[in-house]
Amino acid sequence: MRPVRAFLISLVLLFSTVPGVAQNSPSPANPARVEGKLINGYEPMWWKEAVVYQIYPRSFKDSNGDGIGDLKGITSKLDYLHQLGVDVIWLSPHFDSPNADNGYDIRDYRKVMTEFGAMADFDQMLAVIKKRHMRLIIDLVVNHSSDEHKWFVESRSSKDNPYRDYYIWRPGKPNPASPTGFDPPNNYPSFFSGSAWQFDPATSEYYLHYFAVKQPDLNWDNPKVRGEVFDLMKFWLDKGVDGFRMDVIPIISKPAGLRDLTADELKNPGKAYANGPHMHDYLEEMNRRVLSKYDVMTVGEAMGISLEQTPQMVDDRRHELNMIFNFDAVRVNRDGRLWKSWALPDLKAIYTKHAEELDVHSWDTVFLSNHDNPRLVSSFGDDSPAFRVPSAKLLATMLLTLRGTPFLYQGDELGMTNYPFKTIDDFNDIEAHNAYKAEVLTHKVSEEDYLANLRHMSRDNARTPMQWDASPQAGFTTGPSSWLAVNPNYTQINAAQEISDPASVYHYTQHLIALRHKTPALVYGDFKDLDPRHPTIFAYTRTLGADHYLVVMNFSANSIAYSLPGGLQPAKLVLANLGSTEAGTSTLHLQGREARVYKF
Ligand code: NOJ
Ligand code: CA
Repeated sequence: MRPVRAFLISLVLLFSTVPGVAQNSPSPANPARVEGKLINGYEPMWWKEAVVYQIYPRSFKDSNGDGIGDLKGITSKLDYLHQLGVDVIWLSPHFDSPNADNGYDIRDYRKVMTEFGAMADFDQMLAVIKKRHMRLIIDLVVNHSSDEHKWFVESRSSKDNPYRDYYIWRPGKPNPASPTGFDPPNNYPSFFSGSAWQFDPATSEYYLHYFAVKQPDLNWDNPKVRGEVFDLMKFWLDKGVDGFRMDVIPIISKPAGLRDLTADELKNPGKAYANGPHMHDYLEEMNRRVLSKYDVMTVGEAMGISLEQTPQMVDDRRHELNMIFNFDAVRVNRDGRLWKSWALPDLKAIYTKHAEELDVHSWDTVFLSNHDNPRLVSSFGDDSPAFRVPSAKLLATMLLTLRGTPFLYQGDELGMTNYPFKTIDDFNDIEAHNAYKAEVLTHKVSEEDYLANLRHMSRDNARTPMQWDASPQAGFTTGPSSWLAVNPNYTQINAAQEISDPASVYHYTQHLIALRHKTPALVYGDFKDLDPRHPTIFAYTRTLGADHYLVVMNFSANSIAYSLPGGLQPAKLVLANLGSTEAGTSTLHLQGREARVYKF
């Protein structure tokens, strides 16, 4: 490593690992910034070098035997995460909520969900996270609140209530034939089936809810709403949290005039709702009034935003967000809500396009799983007994060596798999149940087809409890049952077993994280796909100055003798998922699902 770069990186690390429970006290100057010193054109920042791990609190670890994960449970597992090597924890919503959408419907933004514990438990968890030199980002869910939030309770009570304009109310279209006397104000669909408008008898008007009926959309055009949001952000930042993952943030500014969607727009309502006329103004205001005063990271869940539009949200000269989640890669195996088979060249083309579209001012993220998607190894790999382990390791290799800050989802590091759902009653997710009513109970889709698709796609696949050990309920809870059933494969797939096995997915992931941490080329280096059209091999380089890394992965179950393009002969094998030692040759003999990282 060049001495200047080594110095810069250690400077960044020094500032990023200040021990203790140091609060994020407002400071206009970001201490991690080294003005004017760039790495490969990029401004070095701690969140560019971080590996993020997402916790879905309901399913991570139960401390009191009620079958529901909680904050004390998380605190008890922080050493596990520290040993894995992750830098940042993203905690899915931990706020007071009636749980219509498992916490993505918030009743009180300043209170901890009672099932998860109390504020003292949050403070304790944060203190231990900081002691371990990790960071915490929390979920900011402010496109909508719960209908049980006091703002909405007030808002619905009368048309002249001071909170009326906190939400989006419209009169219906008169229709004597309809039971309420009205039709909804326009044809907007909800993401969770049915109309996005709900008639409220108290004032005979409709309110807008892009998601569930119990998730009314906030009116961001009201400056008081923005002020409330900025205040609650400061509340958590002043406690010391290190930033936010922002739920469906591109849809906070509603389309001008709320006119009907065209037939074409109805095929992708997320796109039609996103990028409203004031979205950038509101994000810029949020950055100016709140984020710029703290050393924090932000990542927006960018539903409806194209790759081409991404720089408008994350270019560091615009002062809006640091990063967004773009879903092109995650959705390569689906068509809307339907599962479809996918081809490796399509996925590779997406990563190349990312490298082309996002320049040194627009930092990327890399992820293929979260709480809204099926399990990584079942979705993009092969969860059969013969290939689950190599395949989970291959996917980890890709996620931790690609461009962008990697986001791992809980259980990915164990190679956890989809759940064998049988009937609709096995599912908890409101989205799955609403669509069942709208599609199966109306005979638009057969029950068999619906369930077959849901088994692949359901979000509940990712929400089954973490598998900690081989004891009953996988060590997730000491109680007799858990809120969502434990995957029956927990006796084979669990953390205790993997920690004791040096060849496990857990230890391989640990090695990869350590490799990324000590290898600036894997963070700031250029990306080049060496063989974009190859149907089963993904071979790419990451290059930073004189440091060249080659990642080669065989996505097929068949072995192959693969000749590297240009006769490249990588000299040094850095990491391999199947124990190979092959190096110094341009023809690699790869087994099925084999992944290797070379330096050359
Ligand atoms: C996106 C979240 O990730 C998802 O879980 C939730 O259902 C919707 N936003 C609504 O908040
Ligand atoms: Ca509990």
